[in-house]
Amino acid sequence: MADRVQPAPPCVLVIFGAAGDLTKRLLVPALYNLRRSKLLPEEFSIVGVARAEKDDEAFRRDFDESMRKFSSASENEADWKWLRERMSYLKGDLEDAETYQALGKRLVQSGGRAGPSGNVLFYLATPPAVFAPVIGQLGRAELLREQDGNWRRVIIEKPFGTDLRSAQELNRQILSVMSENQIYRIDHYLGKETVQNIMVFRFGNGIFEPLWNRNHIDHVQITVAETVGVETRGKFYDATGALRDMVPNHLFQLLELVAMEPPTCFAADAVRTEKGKVLEAVHPFGKADALRNVVRGQYGSGAVNGKAVKAYRESPEVAPDSAMETYVALKVMIDNWRWAGVPFYLRTGKALVTRRSEIVIRFKQAPFALFRDTPVERLTPNDLVLHIQPEEGVTLSFGAKKPGPKVTMGGVQMRFDYKDYFEAAPSTGYETLVYDCMTGDTTLFKRAEEIEAGWRIVQPLLDAWSKDRNEPAAYPAGSEGPAEANELMARDGRQWRPLDQNGKKS
Ligand code: BG6
Repeated sequence: MADRVQPAPPCVLVIFGAAGDLTKRLLVPALYNLRRSKLLPEEFSIVGVARAEKDDEAFRRDFDESMRKFSSASENEADWKWLRERMSYLKGDLEDAETYQALGKRLVQSGGRAGPSGNVLFYLATPPAVFAPVIGQLGRAELLREQDGNWRRVIIEKPFGTDLRSAQELNRQILSVMSENQIYRIDHYLGKETVQNIMVFRFGNGIFEPLWNRNHIDHVQITVAETVGVETRGKFYDATGALRDMVPNHLFQLLELVAMEPPTCFAADAVRTEKGKVLEAVHPFGKADALRNVVRGQYGSGAVNGKAVKAYRESPEVAPDSAMETYVALKVMIDNWRWAGVPFYLRTGKALVTRRSEIVIRFKQAPFALFRDTPVERLTPNDLVLHIQPEEGVTLSFGAKKPGPKVTMGGVQMRFDYKDYFEAAPSTGYETLVYDCMTGDTTLFKRAEEIEAGWRIVQPLLDAWSKDRNEPAAYPAGSEGPAEANELMARDGRQWRPLDQNGKKS
């Protein structure tokens, strides 16, 4: 971001759901960071829309404390003051047409900052149930009409639908009032520097790409492990589960970036087209695979980082006999020339032993005739690991001769750590996404087809599971996940890279 010197064009940002957690935790801190990096335009203002009765000053005051908590801003700091004075509040019910009339008037009043027909970015930081109603109302109030060369854009958060049918319906409703290039569907994984780096790493370096295919790669593991449990999100989570919550969105983003063909250029459509082709090539799950190649797990009681954790079923607003999964592992095959025969193993879960997101590229073993007296499992595998979070970097492991008269091998590693090379700017992960939307760069946002392609892949799993009560495999909180996930790998003669490495850097 530091290299981007151009501030975004003048605009008004309208936040629906302005009193919510996302706005406090991520969005306003991200705007503050953008201001500090001089990427917001002078002519900028924010209109927060929510239900409670309050005036502009009370609305601004709400953020003083949250900004101290979620960013480095203090009350009198110049950049926060700059942003704060540009914030105003509009009380309104999101389902009521009058709210949008009032909003229209407010946009006219803010003419000096963006013009009555000026650039407006609508941010839906709301529960998903109101995505379609809000966009419908914006359309009816003619607030999405672009004129005089100015733009109107909408950012929409996940979850985008709860299955293929609902996602298609939501796309249909949205696209009936606005065009595809006005809608910015967020997947916050694409806001992470380490995720954006996957493409640069692959396509900006000559040495990896020639090896990046079925001739040299044995398999790929994609892990998003979390230590947090369901916490206070029981109501949402018990209707959602790990598959819907993480796989068609975040894990598939990682899969697409690792598996895509090089785009012809970094233009948004070129990148998104190549990413889309990966999902199109995923081998569809048949009924048998849905049960054989996918493992569902649910955490029982245990301890995470030495702290006792109650079983998922005992969490607030979770059914005491819930069969919802908090963990899922699946084997995905991609039927194309680059990847045919190379399994991609994906896993994600809550209340696991450690928080770790990473992608492991396991290269094929060297012919080991030379080492025939060494058990295969003692040869160090060539793993290229892309560390997404909390560690950020890349490691490559390989075998080296142990010093001594006998030829024996030991495993060694080369390691790149972001923090050793680059100074990190404070970031919530939303800065790039918001800035890109203001400047009209859609590369990091999902098109309608990509969303639907993700759901299309997981839909047979949802169908298979909903048929009979499909009991998830139990795993204790604070563990590596259910034993069945290890069996999924063991059947293919493979193993997951352990999550728990006893604090050892890996
Ligand atoms: C969200 C999910 O989309 O992503 C959460 O709804 C999950 O359940 C979160 O915890 C993970 O995001 P991150 O950035 O912490 O890996």
